[in-house]
Amino acid sequence: MNAIPTVAAVGGFFTLAAVTAGGTYYFTPEFWRVGYEPEQPVNYSHQLHAGTLGIDCRYCHTNVEKSGHSNVPDTSTCMNCHTGSGDQAYLNLTLWNAHKVNENLVRVREAYASTAPIEWKRVHKVPDYAHFNHAAHVKAGVSCYSCHGRIDQQAVVRQVHGMAMGWCLDCHRNPERALVIADDLGATDAPKITDLEAIEALLSSRGQRESGLAVAKARQLAPPEHCAACHY
Ligand code: HEC
Ligand code: HEC
Ligand code: HEC
Ligand code: HEC
Ligand code: HEC
Repeated sequence: MNAIPTVAAVGGFFTLAAVTAGGTYYFTPEFWRVGYEPEQPVNYSHQLHAGTLGIDCRYCHTNVEKSGHSNVPDTSTCMNCHTGSGDQAYLNLTLWNAHKVNENLVRVREAYASTAPIEWKRVHKVPDYAHFNHAAHVKAGVSCYSCHGRIDQQAVVRQVHGMAMGWCLDCHRNPERALVIADDLGATDAPKITDLEAIEALLSSRGQRESGLAVAKARQLAPPEHCAACHY
């Protein structure tokens, strides 16, 4: 009986600690953003277009290497392949009949005809008080893979990293883990920075640390850690 108050006190302490830890975790971006996967107006699939068909990310996200902001393509980009009757994309595909009356493609064509854009729901977003620049990262040799994961395997885009401040800084402190020698670094036999499968293999291969450090040195990369670099 004498042990009861002690046991209760210790038990109470651990329960409180667990609730606090759980609550703290629940209110962090890691918890509520990882896995964020909103339903989109058209069931456009990266798994099909970027994966199976192998269309380069930059065919649609044309600004990703040129500007801070990575654009989402407008409907006219889709219409390069999806004009409707006699769809170029379908000509040699056995599934043509199945897709002739595809509801999603009808929606894409209607959007194009009406000139009203398709209202894609935004998935990744840093708050307005923080600044992120795509071109600076992609040109430094950081692949889409390191921040967005295997988009080419996702039927619906899902956020795979929390993208909180600690996540940015983790990489800025040890960028070699994410730096690759890719096509734009002038190397022969190097995969494209948008070839997520090849990049994934490269990043998990032996010797990545050394080659990452070499990229950082050759390109004189210095990911900033001071507040004003991201908050201004
Ligand atoms: C370079 C050519 C190309 C471009 C550009 C393209 N697509 Fe496709 N799309 C295809 C092909 C090929 C298929 C596969 C057809 C099949 O499976 O029969 C397809 C299939 C689809 C489907 C049907 C998937 C299903 O099974 O229901 C949708 C919806 C679709 N595309 C939407 C889009 C949207 C939206 C865009 C613009 C953001 C786009 N596509 C851009 C080539 C393209
Ligand atoms: C045929 C055009 C096309 C290609 C190719 C393509 N995308 Fe996309 N992407 C889109 C469209 C349309 C959306 C908006 C709808 C959605 O989220 O699915 C989008 C959305 C995204 C998003 C989420 C944007 C947000 O709201 O946060 C990411 C990240 C992304 N794409 C990365 C990639 C990567 C990486 C590749 C190459 C492996 C790629 N995309 C190839 C058309 C394309
Ligand atoms: C260093 C990390 C990082 C890399 C590398 C990266 N992204 Fe992003 N991406 C982000 C972040 C962070 C956001 C949210 C940006 C914001 O809110 O301004 C984002 C947002 C996006 C969006 C949504 C933009 C919008 O306004 O809807 C698209 C599309 C996208 N990325 C595509 C790509 C593609 C394609 C690549 C590779 C060529 C790529 N990203 C490489 C971190 C990255
Ligand atoms: C996977 C690695 C990685 C992640 C994640 C990452 N960065 Fe970077 N970042 C880099 C590297 C490498 C550089 C160095 C580029 C250079 O020196 O040219 C850099 C440079 C920068 C710069 C300076 C260049 C510029 O844009 O003016 C800013 C600002 C920046 N990152 C912001 C961010 C923010 C904000 C996030 C999180 C939302 C983030 N980064 C996430 C690797 C990363
Ligand atoms: C590499 C870019 C980067 C640097 C450097 C950076 N921050 Fe941040 N910071 C961010 C991003 C991105 C967020 C948004 C996180 C989110 O989505 O919740 C953020 C969020 C914050 C917040 C809001 C609370 C939070 O933690 O989410 C504060 C306060 C803050 N930063 C202060 C600072 C201070 C002080 C410094 C310098 C010691 C600093 N930051 C350096 C990128 C950066």
